[in-house]
Amino acid sequence: MSSDVESLLSFKVAPGGRLSGTHRVPGDKSISHRAVMFAALAEGTSTVTGFLDGEDCLCTLRAFEAMGAQVERLDRTSLRITGVGIDGLKAPGKVLDVGNSGTSMRLMSGLLAAQPFATTLTGDASLRRRPMKRVTEPLTRMGAVIGTQPGGRAPLEIQPAPQRLKAIRHDSPVASAQVKSCILLAGLYADGLTEVHEPEASRDHTERMLSAFGVTVDAREGYAAVQGGQRLLAANIDVPSDISSAAFLMVGAAISPGSDVTLEAVGLNPTRTGVIHILEAMGARIAISHERTIGGEPVGDVRIQGSALRGIDINPAWVASAIDEFPAIFIAAACATGETRLSGAAELRVKESDRISAMCTGLRVLGIDAVALADGARISGGRLRGGQVASLGDHRIAMSFAMAGLRAEQPIIIRDCDNVATSFPGFSTLMQAAGLRLREVTR
Ligand code: S3P
Repeated sequence: MSSDVESLLSFKVAPGGRLSGTHRVPGDKSISHRAVMFAALAEGTSTVTGFLDGEDCLCTLRAFEAMGAQVERLDRTSLRITGVGIDGLKAPGKVLDVGNSGTSMRLMSGLLAAQPFATTLTGDASLRRRPMKRVTEPLTRMGAVIGTQPGGRAPLEIQPAPQRLKAIRHDSPVASAQVKSCILLAGLYADGLTEVHEPEASRDHTERMLSAFGVTVDAREGYAAVQGGQRLLAANIDVPSDISSAAFLMVGAAISPGSDVTLEAVGLNPTRTGVIHILEAMGARIAISHERTIGGEPVGDVRIQGSALRGIDINPAWVASAIDEFPAIFIAAACATGETRLSGAAELRVKESDRISAMCTGLRVLGIDAVALADGARISGGRLRGGQVASLGDHRIAMSFAMAGLRAEQPIIIRDCDNVATSFPGFSTLMQAAGLRLREVTR
């Protein structure tokens, strides 16, 4: 939801139950955004199937429609997009409001910085609090002209650059696919080779999908580069199921004895599979089958069965590839024997909410000993009571606490859940079908 009014939707989860069945979670959010953006910039007509029709990706879709792309909705998850070509975007004629979506704002800022027209990019209260200097600083070095609010926050007021952008080498202090992608997209319009170096490999969907659209990208772990002046040619993109949405069911099944769930066609890009490594290290029973490649991305069917979990020290090498899954992993930690320790994850503090604080606060309400650290947390597994927790309007916090209901002794009420629709439309229905005793309550 892009509105700033207080959300009306709560989840009430009755204690107990287990998860079963074969399910398909919605399409990958990161890949859906990119499919829309690149199809809109390509020459010709592309099709996108398995598109995530969640609010975040719909914000991207509406923005590119406003800039001239022709979009035909074939059904809820299938689109036909006729692009305008790399130099064909037109002024949107309005402020572009991308709601809750950091991916829309950061990736689009790179593209818009290179356009011959001015744009204003804004978002909801959560997005307007998030750091944007990480993209505006390197874009400014490329010659972009971007006005920000105090602290470098959105709304971003992007003016046409006086000259063609110039290529840069950017050494990103954080492993961030949004930063990397922003700079690479600006780099398509720059003179010369634009290079991004990262401290760890962030998700590489941009590099993979640009290649599918005919762009030459030099990519290896922690590095990506593009030469300016390349065109995109229409492509057909089949979007895998989102491992970040699958993660809720994976954790739910792992923590509840007797659960047995299979998730179909889950994206298994190695830059995204940290959650599987972490849950396996905690003792989860996970089996992957039917591994294949769709749309240049590895996918497979993932089966998870309930088992006894144990606390671990999370390997720092897995942090970047599990960054969106820590709220769910914290629930697994609360249900494990012993302590789980996470460090090197300060990025969690600048997501849709401060996820370290949101999760530790909620876990303590439920009776778990959870200590927030500057860059992680220490969680001691224990008995989950019930109670009322705040999601702070953060979709992943809401869905994670919903899973806790499977092991709680009393009902859990989760406030402020409308934003679940940003990434996982149909969450409640799918979870009820899988066995979670969840009810939606509207005030
Ligand atoms: C995303 C990158 C990640 C992730 C976000 C989606 C993307 O953010 O947390 O949900 O689609 O590029 P960062 O780039 O800030 O790490």
